[in-house]
Amino acid sequence: MTTTDDLLARHRAVLPAWISPLYAEPIELASGSGCRVTDASGRTYLDFFGGVLTTSIGYDIAEISDAVRRQVDTGIAHSSTLYLIRKQVELAEKIARVSGIPDAKVFLANSGTEANETALLLATQLRRSNQILAMRNSYHGRSFGALGVTGNRGWAASSLTPVNVSYLHSGDRLRGLFAGLSDAEYIAKAVEDLREVLATTTSGDVACLIAEPIQGVGGFVAPPDGFFGALKEVLDEYGILWVSDEVQTGWGRTGEHFWGYQAHDAVPDMLTFAKGIGNGYALGGVVARAEVMDCLTATSFNTFGGNPISSAAGAAVLDYILDHDLQGNAARVGEVLHRGLREIAAASPIVADVRGRGLMLAVEFVEPGTLTPSPRATLGVLEECKAAGLLVGKGGLYGNVIRMGPPLTLTEAEAKEGLGILAHAIETVGAAR
Ligand SMILES: Cc1ncc(COP(=O)(O)O)c(C=O)c1O
Repeated sequence: MTTTDDLLARHRAVLPAWISPLYAEPIELASGSGCRVTDASGRTYLDFFGGVLTTSIGYDIAEISDAVRRQVDTGIAHSSTLYLIRKQVELAEKIARVSGIPDAKVFLANSGTEANETALLLATQLRRSNQILAMRNSYHGRSFGALGVTGNRGWAASSLTPVNVSYLHSGDRLRGLFAGLSDAEYIAKAVEDLREVLATTTSGDVACLIAEPIQGVGGFVAPPDGFFGALKEVLDEYGILWVSDEVQTGWGRTGEHFWGYQAHDAVPDMLTFAKGIGNGYALGGVVARAEVMDCLTATSFNTFGGNPISSAAGAAVLDYILDHDLQGNAARVGEVLHRGLREIAAASPIVADVRGRGLMLAVEFVEPGTLTPSPRATLGVLEECKAAGLLVGKGGLYGNVIRMGPPLTLTEAEAKEGLGILAHAIETVGAAR
């Protein structure tokens, strides 16, 4: 029995059955540097998933480790918000500045789930309504409220919910009712659908729409540019708030913009963030207009949210992203990957779609010549990539999408190396059908 076999057996014995590591033979990441990780057996991989778009800068980055070490060396890992936390204030100031939200205030938490839970709390309190609009195929976290707005059966562990939700269409035009519509036709239909949903499934005084600009767990499905701006015109008629869940799309990941919402010609009332801002340290939060953020009348706080260590890490990550123009890098290197993936797709009968923006890319697998989802081919590609030294992720409503979200520091040479592995993996799986 190898060390990893032993760890897998211990994992299964003591951790919940619903936490399942990837791969027929799961691996343990023992060390990392830049965009590469090394497993416990000493094999090194190029990492195109970054721990689900969370290792946003890469592994073992001196600026971030030094910032954390400096805070650790003060002896204060925690103080609580009973006392002023300089690092928290500094980070909140930086995030408010880049948020694009006017008169912005920031609440710091530990995760995307907590961030979205807070946004739902603020919206429902401000609007005195528990009615929420969410998108089909969405994922917003694993608490009761966040699960209550999750429109994906594979991730919706419970139907119990504190909110009353109406679901809008997801933006999927590969299959389903809106398949094949042009951008303009799709937006017009979606606006019509929103009006109908408001009139038929709500009492009008809805608290908010919560939506991911690009659906993460949902397989990087996205509506056309301008879509949320068009919905917002209707929301504004009713005073309904718009919450943009930027947990995967934030911090320049999409290349063309710093936030996913910026493709939609409108500014949300709140945005939520997590994952990439910590580069691995637990950090999430909400940005909202002061009037929205300050609507709570009871005292509320978060013991660990924005603690000095996470805040020091977050500030160092944000500085690094801005100082090194990683948004620009995501656009440039992302384009190399998009182009390469499109070429691979054109030659493969098992690829139905290549999508995403910047360094957020997805490939959807089907049975040859059909639109029937193929989770089998997807798993095959996942395993072939691993065997050749590339880590990618999986997702999509049908489990038939390979997702990629490498560190934003990915170089063009690394992108091409990964493309070579992907091309070979997709060809091998396509030929073996
Ligand atoms: C879009 C989105 N929102 C929220 C979450 C929940 O974040 P966390 O796992 O940090 O609670 C996730 C996690 O994958 C996500 O992708």
